[in-house]
Amino acid sequence: MKQGGSDAAKRAAGESAAEAVEDGMVVGLGTGSTAAHAIRAIGRQVDAGLDIVGVPTSFQSRELAREAGIPLSDLDEASVDLAIDGADEVAGGDLIKGGGAAHAREKIVDASADRFLVVADPTKEARTLSQPVPVEVLSAARTTVAESVRELGGEPTLRQAERKDGPVVTDNGHLVLDCAFGDIDDPAALGRELASLPGVVEHGLFVGLADQVHVGSEDGVTVRTL
Ligand code: 5RP
Repeated sequence: MKQGGSDAAKRAAGESAAEAVEDGMVVGLGTGSTAAHAIRAIGRQVDAGLDIVGVPTSFQSRELAREAGIPLSDLDEASVDLAIDGADEVAGGDLIKGGGAAHAREKIVDASADRFLVVADPTKEARTLSQPVPVEVLSAARTTVAESVRELGGEPTLRQAERKDGPVVTDNGHLVLDCAFGDIDDPAALGRELASLPGVVEHGLFVGLADQVHVGSEDGVTVRTL
């Protein structure tokens, strides 16, 4: 997971994407330190009178949105106009997500949105996706999925918690295998293989979902429309 970007770069990206939020929208609220800047910026707009509803993608984004004063809903009740979310790696418009183990709900929200804006700092950009792919699995399937991942040429590692003994347990009550494949030449094909394994809840390859990438830096923001 690449965590090297500066907070100023993340803030620039998050605030740039937040400018796309308009009155009356249902907004998907992503997870992570870059999306958090977008959530805080949207909160400031709500304070100033903007009328929107947020759909959080995780416990973290729900808490942050509440603190920021953003009215909330969920996908059962609202369809998302615009989603703003971070990424662990960006190659063209394809992403690896799940550094915060929130990729299952993130994918549901981001994929359902009319427009999905990615917010990132320059350390996330790559020519080819090559970070380990987070794969959320039912705990009963962790061994069988790990074997299948090895057969696909990957090296799975059960994600361990920090400041708790044992593995990370997702917001959905599942485990995460971080699966290193080296350079991923065909993310769509790998995504299909991973999705087909029994016991896989969701994987962190987001292929062809993004509409725009906002890359922040100390000097400004580059916006790429896909
Ligand atoms: C969480 C994610 C995050 O969006 C991703 O890890 C990026 O986080 P950050 O902006 O803190 O670098 O996918 O599951």
